[in-house]
Amino acid sequence: MEGTNLNQIGVSFKGSGSYVPNQILTNQDISKRVDTSDEWIKSRTGISERRISGIEEDVSQMGYKAALAAINMTKWDINTIDLIILATSTPHDLFGSAPSIQERLGAKNAVAFDLTAACSGFLFAVITASQFLKTGSYKRAIVIGSDQISSYIDWNDRRSCILFGDGAGAIAIEATLKYDNLIGFDMRTDGQRGCFLNLPSQINEDVITENINYSSSSFSSIQMNGQEVYKFAVKEVPLIIENLFKKTNYSSEKIDWLLLHQANQRILDSVGDRLNFSRGKILSNLSDYGNTSAATIPLVLDEAVRNKKIKQNDIIATSGFGAGLSWGAALFRWG
Ligand code: COA
Repeated sequence: MEGTNLNQIGVSFKGSGSYVPNQILTNQDISKRVDTSDEWIKSRTGISERRISGIEEDVSQMGYKAALAAINMTKWDINTIDLIILATSTPHDLFGSAPSIQERLGAKNAVAFDLTAACSGFLFAVITASQFLKTGSYKRAIVIGSDQISSYIDWNDRRSCILFGDGAGAIAIEATLKYDNLIGFDMRTDGQRGCFLNLPSQINEDVITENINYSSSSFSSIQMNGQEVYKFAVKEVPLIIENLFKKTNYSSEKIDWLLLHQANQRILDSVGDRLNFSRGKILSNLSDYGNTSAATIPLVLDEAVRNKKIKQNDIIATSGFGAGLSWGAALFRWG
């Protein structure tokens, strides 16, 4: 059983990998710093603990480890990789962190660049990479989601610091002439609602010479209107998936797994209920890792592939959503 037969190029999903830092920050740990409790955090979010990268780690190191695990699953010769896209909002180098992953992998024939779309970033990067493969420009791509959100959190803000953690995940995608395992996708942006979730730069006015001024810049911490983001997610995510079902002639009964960006267990359950997915079909590892931004989707995916929950040819409905505001959905067949 394989995807739609084609006369044109399709894509197939060949491997997955992930990496999380060793440091574990529990709800009890957070409650020593801000006025909150394990009970409050678990009941409102489903999160018990999250990983925090050590000072020696960054998105490239985490992304490299996830990418290497995905490549090892495929057994590809490293020289045959044409494209590496790193989805991240927390680069260790604002000029791009993907080249340093390319260098660490020794993937000297691959072009590597960053893509920023916050928590939608991994999904947008998979769709972007798939376009390069489907046009015949490239044959093999590695798509990575890696974020070190802990560096940009106000650890004194109990409304946001409980939600996030660090980590990375990756998948290996290949062009194929036989079938297309990316069944359909859709992507949306609403900049008008962008103010509900930001990581803005802080502008400091200064002068270069007497009559030329400039702004030196650094970044502040995550600013979030939790209730508005929650409302956005539970409204838009079911809608975009429903529309994708209509476009592709699929329905929830034909889908093996619902793989949503891991933001809040209540969001996952609400979207699942709206779309008539039984709880057993909703993939979740929120309890262990919290929201790792661009990393959540490949992190859950890799976990489910490695513990043989997701099997070859399983059909997965996925959706990424978050800052921008941006959101997207894709239907794909694993393998
Ligand atoms: N511990 C204890 N109390 C807390 C708290 C915490 N960590 N955070 C907020 N509260 C308090 C508030 O101060 C408020 O108290 P008040 O009524 O006395 O003013 C009360 O709890 C309710 O706050 P509210 O913001 O309405 O809570 P909520 O049920 O909406 O839950 C979030 C807050 C952040 C968990 C929830 O809005 C959410 O998950 N939103 C989506 C955020 C998200 O996913 N962002 C990333 C998207 S990619």
